[in-house]
Amino acid sequence: MSGGPTVQITDSMDTVNEVNDENVEDIVDPWTVQSSNAKGVDYDKLIKRFGSSKIDESLLNRFEKIAASRGQKVHPFIKRGLFFSHRDLDHILSLHEQGKHFYLYTGRGPSSAAMHMGHLIPFMTTRYLQKLFDVPVVIQLTDDEKFLWKDLQLEECFGLSRENTKDIIACGFDPEKTFIFSDLSYIGSCKEFYWNMKRIEKLVTFNQVKGIFGFGDSDCIGKISFPAIQAAPSFSSSFPHIFNGRTDIPCLIPCAIDQDPYFRMTRDVAPRLHLSKPALMHSVFFPALQGAQTKMSASDPTSSVFLTDTLAQIKKKINKYAFSGGRDTIEEHRKYGGDCEVDVSFQYLQFFLDDDDELEQIRKDYSSGALLTGELKQKLIKILQELVGHHQAERAKVTEEVINYFWRTDKYACSEKYPPLPKGSDKKKKKKGTPKTKEATDEIGNLKVTRETT
Ligand code: TYM
Repeated sequence: MSGGPTVQITDSMDTVNEVNDENVEDIVDPWTVQSSNAKGVDYDKLIKRFGSSKIDESLLNRFEKIAASRGQKVHPFIKRGLFFSHRDLDHILSLHEQGKHFYLYTGRGPSSAAMHMGHLIPFMTTRYLQKLFDVPVVIQLTDDEKFLWKDLQLEECFGLSRENTKDIIACGFDPEKTFIFSDLSYIGSCKEFYWNMKRIEKLVTFNQVKGIFGFGDSDCIGKISFPAIQAAPSFSSSFPHIFNGRTDIPCLIPCAIDQDPYFRMTRDVAPRLHLSKPALMHSVFFPALQGAQTKMSASDPTSSVFLTDTLAQIKKKINKYAFSGGRDTIEEHRKYGGDCEVDVSFQYLQFFLDDDDELEQIRKDYSSGALLTGELKQKLIKILQELVGHHQAERAKVTEEVINYFWRTDKYACSEKYPPLPKGSDKKKKKKGTPKTKEATDEIGNLKVTRETT
């Protein structure tokens, strides 16, 4: 996960372009992930550039303890460092240890009916965390975002939200504690969500979103205000049917690190709204079939294994496209061994082969040349076919009624856990906990400082 070039946060941000460093090559933003290094993005450097923190041994130990106390194991994505970076995750674990409330928030931009294997990473993790902590989950479908960014009609985007909901439900979320919502449908019906959007929009300038997201003069105005829409679910008052208007329930957002710019902005405005900053857990990217220089992306079908692929298609894609770290001939491979660091099949196994000992054996055997590329691919094909086959079976069970249930906006039974606070009681807290302006601008300010000094 390290040793590559430094990271350029976006390809079109004025402030970033000021950085005059030959090594600045990687691009990581919500729309593009591109590295010139075959091993992929240099995540250690990305942590420095983004100003986040590494998920280190001590955090993993705390996870171990919590999981053990609930008779569970730490999820392989977390244990293996595939979730590698965070913001305030330690605070969330402390809340849990003290028996205090928080909720989980994640999302999907429904640009295509078929989701891919990479999308499973945040959803499987969020599902795991829901079970571990027994907390509500809110899942935003940014169909409005896709309308603004893609050549799609509103009706199509909304339809894709319904389709993608099936894949999300198939990941196994608890129907009693999970709210999945389409922006196009929910925002118009929830004054509290809309009011939070407005509050956020008022605190972020055009200059700031230009700096963070690289918007230009010819971008439509919908794009410029969109980040406030992705920010709003970070605040519990956006969901009155779950949190009874409570403003004080903190949130944790699992996502790949491409989404971090939205939440740097959110964390900047939160203190000025007298609200908690959302905490984050960032994952690495599930690589494209062609190699770790870029992420698996729905907009490039040849890069992806889709959750709708048939078992035969999966086999064909892995055999034909999965970039191999093996040698040109069997003789050379036996002699020199393969390179797991660039081998896409091995990297996919790191995500989806649960057995640590077997994974380690495969790594040794492939590196020594005892295991050939074809054999490695067969192991992966079997695992992916099982995973996708199971997913498709779960998805097939999701009816329109089930979708409606997850989209419901009447009171959730779990809302009883969040009784409304007596009037004015949160006001006192606000005064005490309101950071000064310097602290309040730390997130965006910090981003700028790191760019300038890199
Ligand atoms: P979207 O639809 O691009 O991606 C959905 C989620 O999947 C993650 N992701 C990946 N993770 C690992 N490997 C990959 N190759 C890969 N590709 C995508 C993304 O980081 C994301 O977590 N604007 C957002 C939707 C959104 C959202 C959120 C996402 C709204 N609110 C809160 C995360 C958290 C989007 O278009 O995601």
